[in-house]
Amino acid sequence: MHALEFRQVSYSYGEGEFRIDNLSFTVEEGEFVAVLGHNGSGKSTLARLANGILTRDGGEISVFGTPLDEKHLYDVRREVGVVFQNPDNQTVASIVEDDVAFGAENVGTSREEIGRRIDFALHAVGMEEYRHATIARLSGGQKQRIAIAGVLALLPRIMIFDESTAMLDPRGRREIMEVIARLREEKKITVLVITHFPEEAALADRALVLNRGELVMQGTPAEIFSRREDLLTYNLDLPRIGSIEQALNEGGMSVSSTLDYRILADEIAKELTCGS
Ligand SMILES: Nc1ncnc2c1ncn2[C@@H]1O[C@H](COP(=O)(O)OP(=O)(O)O)[C@@H](O)[C@H]1O
Ligand SMILES: [Mg+2]
Repeated sequence: MHALEFRQVSYSYGEGEFRIDNLSFTVEEGEFVAVLGHNGSGKSTLARLANGILTRDGGEISVFGTPLDEKHLYDVRREVGVVFQNPDNQTVASIVEDDVAFGAENVGTSREEIGRRIDFALHAVGMEEYRHATIARLSGGQKQRIAIAGVLALLPRIMIFDESTAMLDPRGRREIMEVIARLREEKKITVLVITHFPEEAALADRALVLNRGELVMQGTPAEIFSRREDLLTYNLDLPRIGSIEQALNEGGMSVSSTLDYRILADEIAKELTCGS
């Protein structure tokens, strides 16, 4: 059973507006999938369709086998948590624990259970010590971790991060990517990371590339980033290690496109020894 399935999904914001046609892809349980695409390629539209904020015009979307239709809308929405870009727009309370509890309280979770969920969620994002802190005093990365905790408190099985690191500094970005890695490993949550940072996509099991509402590439990050010419036509860049591999190959040292620094270092060492 797929965690998430889009089958020939179409959607349009209206006559003459942006549209998605016949979009099909699947995400497996426990998988970490990156969605790459230039601004305006439809990434956020995909995220909104996946959790039912937007309703598709055609095709089928299902989450763990349950169709995203009127009858199942609320069940499915609870399975698919979305973390957005701006941490300041996602917090509603002034104290951390109240904010984390907010979503779960809204769906009628009992007091005791809420307490357990706050513990669980703050622990998962490494913010236990900030339970009684004032959100306004936190860094961007910390605020975004609180936003993640608020979504986690609803116990989703899939989490979509819609450019959730885009407004953060490098340290904040790293914090979020570490939390995401932990959610996968420890909580077995299926993760979709929407990003325009190739570095973040390189961490995924698989990557999907969107261009003008169309799925134009999919494969492992190593496969995707080995097609540099194609990426350029979609206004996408290689991660730093991909550019290094590319430059070495162009300079006559043949190395494989693995996006793995250790493998690359070994290959360079081998080339140097053979060449001498
Ligand atoms: N509510 C809306 N009404 C009309 N067009 C929209 C709306 N929201 C987004 N769009 C357009 O749809 C396209 C895709 O947007 P979006 O999914 O947000 O792209 P991305 O997240 O990849 O930047 C863009 O051209 C955007 O201007
Ligand atoms: Mg977007």
